[in-house]
Formats: sequence, C-alpha cells, structure tokens
Amino acid sequence: MYSRKRYWKFFKHSLKLFSEIEGVQSGSVDLTIKCRMNCEGCYFKKAGYDKELGDADWRKKILVLKANHPNIINMVWIGGDPLLRKDLLRSLMNYFDFNLVVTTGLIELPKWKDCNFGISIDGTHDYHNQRRGFYDRIKRTIDQDDIWVTIAFTLTEKNHVCLKDFVEEWSNTSVRGVGFSFLTPIIGEKSSDLIVKPETREKIIDRILDLKKKNRKYRKFILNSDSMLSLMRPENTSWVAENCPVKDKVVSLDPMGQPKHPCMMDNANCSQCGCIISHQMLAKGLENTQKMLRYLA
Ligand SMILES: C[S@@+](CC[C@H](N)C(=O)[O-])C[C@H]1O[C@@H](n2cnc3c(N)ncnc32)[C@H](O)[C@@H]1O
Ligand code: SF4
Ligand code: SF4
Repeated sequence: MYSRKRYWKFFKHSLKLFSEIEGVQSGSVDLTIKCRMNCEGCYFKKAGYDKELGDADWRKKILVLKANHPNIINMVWIGGDPLLRKDLLRSLMNYFDFNLVVTTGLIELPKWKDCNFGISIDGTHDYHNQRRGFYDRIKRTIDQDDIWVTIAFTLTEKNHVCLKDFVEEWSNTSVRGVGFSFLTPIIGEKSSDLIVKPETREKIIDRILDLKKKNRKYRKFILNSDSMLSLMRPENTSWVAENCPVKDKVVSLDPMGQPKHPCMMDNANCSQCGCIISHQMLAKGLENTQKMLRYLA
C-alpha cells in the first residue's frame, strides 16, 4: 500500500511523464526564406522556398497556432535567418514562455535577456569556414556574457575531427554551451561526404562522452546528456525514427506558415536522424520511465 506521501510522489512522477506524452508543446517557425549563407547540405536551402508571409499574416498565423495548441510554451525561431526580421520576431516571441532563436551569428545579437540564441558553428576556424564562413566575425559577434548564447554544432564526416579543439576553444568564452547534432540527410539523398558513417558516429559519441567524463569544464559546456548521446548511437536509429515524439509534439511551420513534415527538417530521412530535439525528448521520457520503475520496485 502507498502512504499518502508516496502516492503523491508517484502521482507527480506519472503526471510529469503523462504531460510529456500528451499534446503539442513546442513549435518551430521558419520566419523568412532569407539567409546570408549557402551551407552545403542545408535541408532548408534544398526545400527551395521562394515566398514568405508578411508581418500581419504571421501575426494571424501565430494567434491561430496558439488557439489550436494552447499548451505550446516553447518556440524555436529557425528557418532562414530569423534575425533578418528582427522587429517581427521580437513581437511574436512575446506569445511564448521560452524562445530559442537559431541564427548564423552574422547579424548583431539584440540584447534580449528573455531568450536563448543558438548560433550555428560547425567546427573550429577552418572546418567551420569550409562549410559556412565568417568565423572570426561570428566569434566577435557572439562572445557576450550579458545574453544567453549557446552553439548548435552539426557534426559531419568532415568536421568531427576538430571536436576536442572546438570544445576547448569555446568553453573559454562567454558562450554557455554547445549542443551537438548529426547532419540528417533528406529522403532520396545519395550518400555524400558530409553524412556521418555509422562507425564514425559511434566513435564520435565515444569521444564526446569521454570529454565529458574526463573534464569537468567540458562536462558543463557540452549540453547533450549522456543518455541522449547513447540514444544517438547507430544501433538506436530505427527505434528513434519509429518513436520520434517530434512528429506529434512539435508543430513546424514553413515560411508561408504551412505545416512541415515530418518535422522542422523538410523531407528529413528519419532513419538517419541526428536531431538533438528528438533525442533529447526521447531520453527525457526514458529517464522518467526508469525513475518510475525504480520507484515502483
Ligand atoms: C536551417 S538553419 C536555420 C537557421 C540559420 N540559418 C542558421 O544556420 O543558424 C538551422 C540549423 O539547421 C542546421 N542544419 C542545416 N542542414 C542540416 C541538416 N541536413 N541536418 C542537420 N542540421 C542541419 C544548421 O546548421 C543550423 O544549425
Ligand atoms: S544552415 Fe542556415 S545559414 Fe546555412 S544555408 Fe541553411 S538556412 Fe542558410
Ligand atoms: S528527422 Fe525529424 S521527424 Fe524524423 S526522427 Fe528526426 S526529428 Fe523525428
């Protein structure tokens, strides 16, 4: 028999787990078609959008989204470079509790204290510049301690070798951390020299886990949890694709405000998913289930 206290604790665990299963909680919006880069392998460029909504129509879209999915509290502003529509972005962010602005680092970051800026940097100087460019300028722009800045690093078969140097360099700046994801190919994409091979993926995950284990500073800086990294191993990719919660729990809108499928990555090949969001949500769910099972044992 559960005591009242034990019952309440169990109830809270169940509630948390349940709340993580039910309904749409997050969204992503491609606010514009424009960006000032042309990064190899970019899913957004491959989709070839040529139109975007005006300010008034975006406002209407967001109000409808909120009405249809009142539980959305997180919003990711992503496609194109959202800071190219800074005033619109600022006004729309006010509809959500937590906002992540994924941006190139080419545009000056506004001093917004109530959001996280996720800057895409894909390696140390030369590796990043091979694919994206403007490394020095981006570093000067984003190394600020009065706003919350993190890095989104997309791992490829080409750039993973600089992983340790990258973490060493950036963990000595004002940037709060790095989240690693793997480049996800789109459906039908032939193998390319960017897509990480399964055996490389395995080694990269071992290396990230090792960095976290051996150095306390790196452990704090690397945002991927150990359980999320384990889920990213190649042996789990088909399970992740089958159970991905992003498809049901995250609504993604394209630059015309239309829903995207299967997720914010247009036409993504789920069987090679490297997305940090899907793995994070699944890892959290598994951790909660394990906690519940331990509690019931
Ligand atoms: C499409 S960009 C939009 C935001 C902004 N233009 C930027 O680059 O930060 C969003 C993120 O997706 C990443 N990305 C692009 N193509 C990808 C792919 N095929 N697989 C995984 N991530 C990808 C980019 O590196 C960037 O971090
Ligand atoms: S990753 Fe971002 S900056 Fe690069 S081409 Fe795609 S949308 Fe543009
Ligand atoms: S590509 Fe998108 S929908 Fe597919 S498994 Fe990954 S996050 Fe989920």
